[in-house]
Amino acid sequence: MTESASVSLEGIVKRHGAVTVLHGVDLAIAPGEFFALLGPSGSGKTTTLRILAGLEPHDEGRVTMDGIDVTQRGPGDRDVAMVFQSYALYPHMSVYDNIAFPLRMVAMPRAEVDAAVRDAAVRVRIDHLLDRRPGQLSGGQQQRCALARAIVRKPRLFLLDEPLSNLDAKLRMETRVELRKLQRSLGVTTVYVTHDQEEAMTMADRIAVFLDGRIAQVGTPHEIFERPASTPVAAFIGSPPMNLLPGEVHRGRLSVAGTPLELARHPGPDGPVTVGVRPGALVLSDHGIPGQIYLVEDLGETSIVDVQVEGQLVKIRTPHRPGVHESEAVHLSCAGSAVHVFDRNSGLRR
Ligand SMILES: Nc1ncnc2c1ncn2[C@@H]1O[C@H](COP(=O)(O)OP(=O)(O)OP(=O)(O)O)[C@@H](O)[C@H]1O
Ligand SMILES: [Mg+2]
Repeated sequence: MTESASVSLEGIVKRHGAVTVLHGVDLAIAPGEFFALLGPSGSGKTTTLRILAGLEPHDEGRVTMDGIDVTQRGPGDRDVAMVFQSYALYPHMSVYDNIAFPLRMVAMPRAEVDAAVRDAAVRVRIDHLLDRRPGQLSGGQQQRCALARAIVRKPRLFLLDEPLSNLDAKLRMETRVELRKLQRSLGVTTVYVTHDQEEAMTMADRIAVFLDGRIAQVGTPHEIFERPASTPVAAFIGSPPMNLLPGEVHRGRLSVAGTPLELARHPGPDGPVTVGVRPGALVLSDHGIPGQIYLVEDLGETSIVDVQVEGQLVKIRTPHRPGVHESEAVHLSCAGSAVHVFDRNSGLRR
């Protein structure tokens, strides 16, 4: 096993001409951690990863590994291995030679190369495919070949940019389990870029949510799901994401659509708020917020019920098909502990 690194980004600013794509990114990643950068397209994830790798210059801030400033170091001097979305395998080489390539570059003796290649191939379960060319592999096998080529060097930092995005849904789910196990067995610090929140939620020790070139929140998957720091994070996480409705705090009481909501805690100072409730926490009931059924979506195991509340659609997830019909008048209720309250103006959690 290799020694793994701690990594930090401090005040990273990146501009492309007049456009700022990273606005002061700060991150501290612990040795051995599986850390996900999660955010929508264009939010700055790949740029951040490339800056970590030393592949892309930045305008302000510094990058450290184990407390040492590596900002001026090139990718070859950072002891990192990166797997790109397009695996970038050499098509004319065998799988064996592809995996061996980084070791031959550093002139490792032949017998050591052979042992390392076979060990890496076994770990990702492609040891029976070593004589093939990449073109003779399935997408999932190519992906594992790219992983083997990255782990064979025993890097101290492993950077992965949407490595599973070319796989179909079933293979993606299987491979993410394998990848997580592989990372645990190697113990190597891993930064994993994805726009797929399920991937980030299931694999990562911690997640940084990227929105518009800024980190909106850092936390464990549980923290990010249970206590989103702001309405933009709340609106991004969950499938479907949290419902957000205008609400009011008046004399210490919270109400939505004219209906008082019971909270287990004090909702904070009087004024306009945004009230968040996850679809799975809402139930159709005979009391609560009034609305009208708009659509029932049957997803097989669960149903999503769209309810119109004061001109806005609210989504409810139910475990079984609800006995309601379009246009029917209903009420929505939820436990006080499931209600999130955000400041209306700043969007920050109260
Ligand atoms: N060479 C460039 N010139 C100008 N703008 C760029 C350049 N490269 C990237 N950008 C911009 O920087 C922003 C961040 O890009 P980045 O590739 O980091 O996003 P991302 O979060 O990885 O997105 P995706 O999920 O689509 O891969 C985007 O708005 C992109 O258009
Ligand atoms: Mg990207």
